[in-house]
Amino acid sequence: MQIFLDTGSVKEVERAAAFGVLDGVTTNPSLIAKEGKDFHQTIKVICKIVNGPVSAEVVNTNTEGMIKEAKQLVKLGKNVVVKIPLIPEGIKAVKQLSKQGIKVNVTLCFSPNQALLAAKAGAWCVSPFVGRLDDIGQTGIDMVHEIRQIYNNYNFKTKILFASTRSSEHVKQAALIGADICTMPYAVFEKLFHHPLTDSGLKKFLDDWNAFKKKGSHIS
Ligand code: G3P
Repeated sequence: MQIFLDTGSVKEVERAAAFGVLDGVTTNPSLIAKEGKDFHQTIKVICKIVNGPVSAEVVNTNTEGMIKEAKQLVKLGKNVVVKIPLIPEGIKAVKQLSKQGIKVNVTLCFSPNQALLAAKAGAWCVSPFVGRLDDIGQTGIDMVHEIRQIYNNYNFKTKILFASTRSSEHVKQAALIGADICTMPYAVFEKLFHHPLTDSGLKKFLDDWNAFKKKGSHIS
């Protein structure tokens, strides 16, 4: 499963990329607005830090406007993937952009039927928002299970990008289901590294080693 960072922060992308396990980045208008920096410039910089796909979202809501904006966004970097919302006008835009070879991430997906439409329109990936379904009392991962099943049934090539990831448990579930990609905030990414037994185990190894050396071992 590919690991993406869900952020509009260049600093977070740099920090995560330094570990060598980051495969891509997703942004959205809220995340970009939170940073308060120029949108296009931010995407350009992120595209230079990571080699993998960088999603940049359109803000137009009619087909023609989305297509026009998509064509501007792909000029920002060779790895830009255009994010289009899963609305009827969006699906029309996805169909046309995909036919022209432009990679599209269909965002704001909350049902398997919406994901079916995204795949039929030729989307490069679909983003089911798991955490936001959990927020309204549904089980977001059930939706991802069902999308996986539908895509497998018909051999759709559209990737499943597990989004609205709120915890390391979500990341594990994404990998168990067979999501192709999981995008997550930096705070969740950081949690993937840790286990209390790793920390206490390392402490014990080093304490034992230092005690052994203090006794005057010749091993250096
Ligand atoms: O970027 C799309 C998605 O991951 C947003 O997540 O946490 O705002 O629901 P969230």
